[in-house]
Amino acid sequence: MASVVHHQVEVHAPYGGVVPELASRDHARAVSQVVDAALERAGVGPRGLGGVAVTAGPGLLGSLLVGLCFAKAFAYRFGLPLVGVHHLSGHLASAEIADPALRAPYLGLVVSGGHTALYRIEDEAAPRLLGETRDDAVGEAFDKVAKLLGLPYPGGPALAALAEEGDETAIDFPRPMAGRPGYEFSYSGLKTAVALEVEARSPLRDGERADIAASFQAAATDVLVAKSQRALGDEGLDQLAVVGGVAANARLRERLVDAAAREGFRAVFPPLALCTDNAAMIASAGYAGLARGERAELSLGAFARAPLG
Ligand code: KG4
Ligand code: ZN
Repeated sequence: MASVVHHQVEVHAPYGGVVPELASRDHARAVSQVVDAALERAGVGPRGLGGVAVTAGPGLLGSLLVGLCFAKAFAYRFGLPLVGVHHLSGHLASAEIADPALRAPYLGLVVSGGHTALYRIEDEAAPRLLGETRDDAVGEAFDKVAKLLGLPYPGGPALAALAEEGDETAIDFPRPMAGRPGYEFSYSGLKTAVALEVEARSPLRDGERADIAASFQAAATDVLVAKSQRALGDEGLDQLAVVGGVAANARLRERLVDAAAREGFRAVFPPLALCTDNAAMIASAGYAGLARGERAELSLGAFARAPLG
């Protein structure tokens, strides 16, 4: 009914990345205003709600605790049921908001700053992990390469914008794990390859920076396209949901839309605002959890890491 997102770009930009302590302090300052704004936009009062969904993890503990404390107090005060949501279940739910016709079974590609994973979704309550990254996440690789190229935080979108001006065939970066069986990913080697290229050419001319950005982006996204296509075939699926911050990437979208037209599968991408972190996707996953009868106790804790599936 309403989606309100509070960004912290200005808080972290001077440091070139997220500073955990500053993140949780800023959450504490903003959380009640964000909730008020969402209720006002939706035109409902707290007692008109069916429940409260909150991210329990994985993520930065300080930030998660702010959300959990607020959600618990709010649910207790208004007598509402509370439900804890795994961050990746939230991302997966964003595809179902975007396309209500999306029905299990489907393949879920989760590509964010913290995760790179393929899931078979047969039952939304229990996605099955097919494979994930062994080291860096793809969004993390975008952010690190952006830093190498001297781009400001947040790096991923800035790198994608610079890549638009470059020639993606200029440098043949490795496509890690692309040819290997299974669904594991690896991005730390690609990042190192870019670092070596930058070092060898430095100081970089502007055209070279754009070519490196475009060539990196091509390598990073080609692997995602290849593995998704293979998983669709192996698993006998004909729908692919692409979620998480990197699902906002235009090249990834283009290549998957082309592959979908060629191979006859359906590719679902949430709108950009639902790709990067947002509370609408957590509400949506929580709604499904409440409908299944899930309820969290007020002792619900935060977790920094925990696989989904
Ligand atoms: O899902 P998300 O908002 O937060 C996490 O759960 O991590 O994803 C953030 C990640 C960052 O690494 C950011 O650089 C990346 O998504 N990202 C992009 C683009 N927009 C955001 N990466 C590539 N191209 C983009 N257009
Ligand atoms: Zn996320």
